[in-house]
Amino acid sequence: MSGWPSGLGKRLQTAVRGFESLSRLQNLFDAAQRTLLWLVVMDKIKDAQRYAHLRNHYKGLTIIQAIMTGGVVPEEVQKRLFEEGWTRTGYTLCFDCMKGRSDLIAKPPVDTFLEDIASFFGGEQAQHTFGCRAAQFAVMKTASEMVKEYDTNKFAPVVLADPLCHYTTALAAEAAGLQLTEPPHTGHPEYKVEAEGFRQKIEEIKRKTGKLPCLVIVTHVDPYHGNVGPAEKVGGIAEEYGVPYMVNAAYTAGVMPVDMRDFKADFLTVSAHKSMASLGPLGFLVTRGEWTEKAFRCSKIVAEGTGRTWKNKILNVFGCSIGGVPLISSMYAFPYVLERVEKWETELEKTRWFIQQMEKMEGVRLIGERPHRHHLMHFETPIFWEISRRHKRKGFFLADEMVNRGIVGLQRGLTKNIKLSLYGLGWDDVKKVRDNFHEVAERYVKEFKLDYNVP
Ligand SMILES: Cc1ncc(COP(=O)(O)O)c(C=O)c1O
Repeated sequence: MSGWPSGLGKRLQTAVRGFESLSRLQNLFDAAQRTLLWLVVMDKIKDAQRYAHLRNHYKGLTIIQAIMTGGVVPEEVQKRLFEEGWTRTGYTLCFDCMKGRSDLIAKPPVDTFLEDIASFFGGEQAQHTFGCRAAQFAVMKTASEMVKEYDTNKFAPVVLADPLCHYTTALAAEAAGLQLTEPPHTGHPEYKVEAEGFRQKIEEIKRKTGKLPCLVIVTHVDPYHGNVGPAEKVGGIAEEYGVPYMVNAAYTAGVMPVDMRDFKADFLTVSAHKSMASLGPLGFLVTRGEWTEKAFRCSKIVAEGTGRTWKNKILNVFGCSIGGVPLISSMYAFPYVLERVEKWETELEKTRWFIQQMEKMEGVRLIGERPHRHHLMHFETPIFWEISRRHKRKGFFLADEMVNRGIVGLQRGLTKNIKLSLYGLGWDDVKKVRDNFHEVAERYVKEFKLDYNVP
């Protein structure tokens, strides 16, 4: 400090020390604040251990929930997943990823599996997706890009879908910035959808906008009544007008024979955890023809600043899709799925027999088309509604009764209408379900002295 006015060096040192103790004080204060915040968070969470002790109350029960029966994972597959250690990590596919994309992984053979999936459903290419909803979103995105980029004068940003499409179809359209239009259905009790309604709507859209809808959609089997939609006829209409066409086969692909060529479909959307005996979330988008390239186009973005690009990542499926155990479960289940679609007629036989049995209870009737052509059944059940009005558990009594009898999957709180499926159950279980419905009806008709005939 030579040359500085006398005493200045000392004063500077004291000032620095002062700053140091101030900043130590500040650090102490920050740490105390962080601890306090942590305590507040921990107080809110209270008992994280309860997650660690979760139990599955429905383990081993007979499942009749329509959204689940086609997704029941064969026991052999469940065993192999654990035995082979596939459940050890989330990204279990990714050890030997050579090309930076999950669909191109060869070990395990995701690449050939996707080729097999495409062949199985009559398509040319397939991608795995985060469920059927993500497959639908990829299609909607393709259609909305087409409106913007390719055919501005030909197509309007309007999707024409059947009036029984799933909410995910509507949300996928919304998320892609498209409007949704639906033709009517025939209403209660059959809720049928006619192909001609699509032609009329296309003409209406043309009159209003001077353009065609950018996408036509049919839900192969609807999720409310289990009706088979007019997928083939609508395919003919879409082809006539030159509009891209998607069939949503979430409820059918993997339980019954589905070939998208029969529908003349450009896109087929599939839910593996709904209909391919797989763990979720997993879906597939299968494509044919000119749309394949557009649907599966790669990213073009260039990051301003670094100039980074991701040119091999497929944009509409977020580059890499499911990298874990659902895809492995689907591979293990594939041979079983190939076999089971051949037994679809047997499944229908069980379903139709069960409908007759349910309708032996006075007032019970199937809602939806007859003869019924799918495993999803929707019944009007006034007898259970009358019981629920007198029962102390109200609308919850029916699902409770069934769970107590080893059968799970009825929507809690509902008794006026019920939905269920017996897909994949053996005849013994099918009869057990029938017997239990009859027994519950008989018990409460007696107990509440109701004027209903029961078998
Ligand atoms: C007709 C239909 N489409 C799509 C979905 C959604 O499937 P995911 O869960 O695979 O997205 C469902 C689910 O219930 C459905 O019933």
